[in-house]
Amino acid sequence: MDALDDEKKNTSKGFGILFFIIGVIMSLIIGWIIFPKLLYSKKNQPIDFNHKLHMASVDNGCASCHFLRKDGSFSGSPKLSECIGCHSQVQGQDPEELKFVEQYVSKNREVPWLIYSKQPACVFFSHAAHIKGAKMDCVTCHGYIGESTSLKVYEQNRISGYSRDIWGKDISGILKKNSWDSMKMDDCAVCHESKSNKSAREKSVQTQKEGCFVCHK
Ligand code: HEC
Ligand code: HEC
Ligand code: HEC
Ligand code: HEC
Ligand code: HEC
Repeated sequence: MDALDDEKKNTSKGFGILFFIIGVIMSLIIGWIIFPKLLYSKKNQPIDFNHKLHMASVDNGCASCHFLRKDGSFSGSPKLSECIGCHSQVQGQDPEELKFVEQYVSKNREVPWLIYSKQPACVFFSHAAHIKGAKMDCVTCHGYIGESTSLKVYEQNRISGYSRDIWGKDISGILKKNSWDSMKMDDCAVCHESKSNKSAREKSVQTQKEGCFVCHK
């Protein structure tokens, strides 16, 4: 009699643990796989672009297309004027080039590029301060886009409207391995703070950071 009761208790305990494990697995699947899939909408760039191929034919490296203007502002994504020298006419067989020349160059329409690193409107960022002032490499913040052979899919967070590259693949930040895996407020602040006991010029950034208006408009 007692033995039978014990057996029943054990079976229900066993089911309890089983259901608990299934529950945990389900929420992991929803949290790690399904929710992130629903959270982002995906868009392809209007045309693809091969950085590696172009780096072999331009004269001035990255600055042929992304450069600081005389007034210190950054040119950002290239305009048609950086392309027409070579693409006023179709020169190869690539369907992406054909699309580029027919739909944009010959109609004199700028390509509406999607910006992976686009910050919300309240953020102030200066390329000059980082690439000229602090002599930083593009890779530190952007990774190896400049060596890629095609542009990746652009993913937009449906709730915040931010590009996925701002908070990164892993919003919690636990899995962050490289400096370019995300570009959120913490990432900017960690580096700005670590510069605090370096040069006096760099220190001034740290002191100003007491206010929020170093990075906010
Ligand atoms: C012949 C022109 C050209 C050259 C040279 C070039 N790029 Fe680009 N780059 C582009 C185009 C076109 C895009 C797509 C538009 C965009 O995403 O801003 C792009 C996008 C990028 C982006 C993505 C910006 C964003 O957040 O969306 C980065 C970063 C970048 N390039 C870095 C580099 C680096 C580093 C080099 C040098 C190794 C380089 N590029 C050389 C044309 C060029
Ligand atoms: C120095 C000359 C030069 C400049 C400047 C240049 N291109 Fe190209 N581009 C080429 C060459 C060469 C090819 C290869 C053509 C072939 O043989 O298919 C090419 C191919 C392409 C292709 C097809 C391959 C690919 O990248 O997916 C696209 C699209 C393209 N260019 C877009 C652009 C855009 C946009 C710009 C301006 C931001 C630009 N190019 C600036 C020389 C140039
Ligand atoms: C890896 C280090 C690093 C990262 C990451 C970084 N910064 Fe900076 N930032 C610096 C340094 C160093 C300077 C000072 C440059 C100088 O004094 O010329 C600076 C300067 C600035 C300035 C100019 C301040 C002034 O006095 O004019 C702004 C604005 C700024 N950063 C915003 C940002 C934002 C926004 C981000 C994140 C998207 C960011 N930074 C990420 C290192 C970094
Ligand atoms: C300290 C980090 C940092 C460094 C270093 C850096 N960038 Fe950026 N880049 C950013 C941020 C942040 C943005 C988004 C700015 C915004 O939305 O206001 C950006 C935007 C861009 C864009 C898109 C601009 C647009 O809106 O059209 C291009 C292209 C780009 N960067 C290329 C480069 C290249 C090339 C280099 C090296 C010469 C470089 N960046 C170095 C952080 C950086
Ligand atoms: C070193 C640069 C930097 C400093 C200093 C900084 N921020 Fe930010 N902040 C950012 C960046 C980059 C973002 C956008 C990315 C993100 O959401 O993490 C942001 C986003 C925000 C947002 C969300 C805005 C939105 O539209 O979603 C708030 C609110 C904010 N910051 C408040 C502050 C306050 C308050 C301070 C001062 C205590 C401050 N920030 C200082 C870089 C900075």
